[in-house]
Amino acid sequence: MTSAREQYEAFQARGLKLNIERGQPSDQDFDLSRGLLSALNDQDTHTETGLDLRNYPGGVAGLPEARALFGSMLGVKAANTIVWNNASLELQAHVLTWALLKGLPASSGPWVQQRPQMIVTVPGYDRHFLLLQTLGFELLTVQMQSDGPDLDAVERLAAGSDRVKGILFVPTYSNPGGQSISEEKARRLSALQAAAPDFTIFADDAYRVHHLYPDDRDVAVNFVQLCADAGHPDRAYVFASTSKITFAGAGLGFVATSEANVTALSVWLNAQSIGPNKVEQQRHVQFLKRYPGGVDALMAAHAEIIRPKFEAVNEALKEALGDSGLARWTSPRGGYFISLDTTYPVAQRVVELAAQAGVSLTPAGATYPGKQDPNGSNIRLAPTRPPVAEVREAMQVVAACIRLASEEYLAKQ
Ligand SMILES: Cc1ncc(COP(=O)(O)O)c(C=O)c1O
Repeated sequence: MTSAREQYEAFQARGLKLNIERGQPSDQDFDLSRGLLSALNDQDTHTETGLDLRNYPGGVAGLPEARALFGSMLGVKAANTIVWNNASLELQAHVLTWALLKGLPASSGPWVQQRPQMIVTVPGYDRHFLLLQTLGFELLTVQMQSDGPDLDAVERLAAGSDRVKGILFVPTYSNPGGQSISEEKARRLSALQAAAPDFTIFADDAYRVHHLYPDDRDVAVNFVQLCADAGHPDRAYVFASTSKITFAGAGLGFVATSEANVTALSVWLNAQSIGPNKVEQQRHVQFLKRYPGGVDALMAAHAEIIRPKFEAVNEALKEALGDSGLARWTSPRGGYFISLDTTYPVAQRVVELAAQAGVSLTPAGATYPGKQDPNGSNIRLAPTRPPVAEVREAMQVVAACIRLASEEYLAKQ
């Protein structure tokens, strides 16, 4: 039997150049939306209801047709939806920034005066941590569990201090573990008794429609409705975008919330822009309306491309690590990522060894605030961009790195 080192060196000798680091769609995914580029022609100057795409008027909340389409994707009415420009992260930043400067409608004053804290789930999305820390929030971490955030911990934190202003997390097929929040937990969170009257759920539902098994999908919860039912109508903001539906970073970000919050957010947005890019909104509406079978069919076509990559990760890791007990990983039913935990604190070494064998992985620690993984074990795997064969080979290398790093670690104990 070959040793862990021999096996690793054999991979190293192949001179590989594989990248499993970036959560990006593949060119095959992009090809599904090529029609977006020609969805408008030089006669398409107006919307069906007569709005001129070329001029300012149109409203700050987005085109009515876009608000209806993307509102329905999030389970709310057009009146509960703002469609903005190309990034949901930017919209999240807008709401958080205005909350800091002015407070939200339920706030007694600007959050910035209250040394605000925000709950985040770990392992989680590095850009959430970056955004919140850049804005000056202190982060409080809770564990992401198989059915959503650790709600006992969330309830404890939220009840403990009115500095805890809310939670920012991914409710469906989360980044990086792929877990979806259960209806029961979503109800508890919506009804939670917080010390802060303006405790807010910031749900980044980036993967709400990104099912790998469209016929056996996780059911996405409706926080706007659940919060209204629980007597906290203004508690939820649900964000999403077309970044992994059509073109990444070249589409539309949108948010669903109460009508009162739509009004307040519109005031803030109106102070900084006469309105979002109507041409892009019309182009997306026309493309998605004309796509045979609509968004559901487009996402099912994505699933055909992406599912084999997720299955390749699982198969390759299982085959190479089997019941070695050296790592465990999630088997998401949707989304863009897989979360892997090594048994020993060797994530950093695994990423380093992989890089030396030509495989780029997301830096160890990226899934924790301040890049500090307390267990030194978590690695985010992003299999969507490379072809299936490359994903499989990269996972064989990762498995070999885990074997070698674990052996090195145990030898030092
Ligand atoms: C959870 C999550 N939210 C937001 C984004 C980025 O979305 P957008 O392009 O709409 O800003 C990503 C991209 O990886 C993501 O994983």
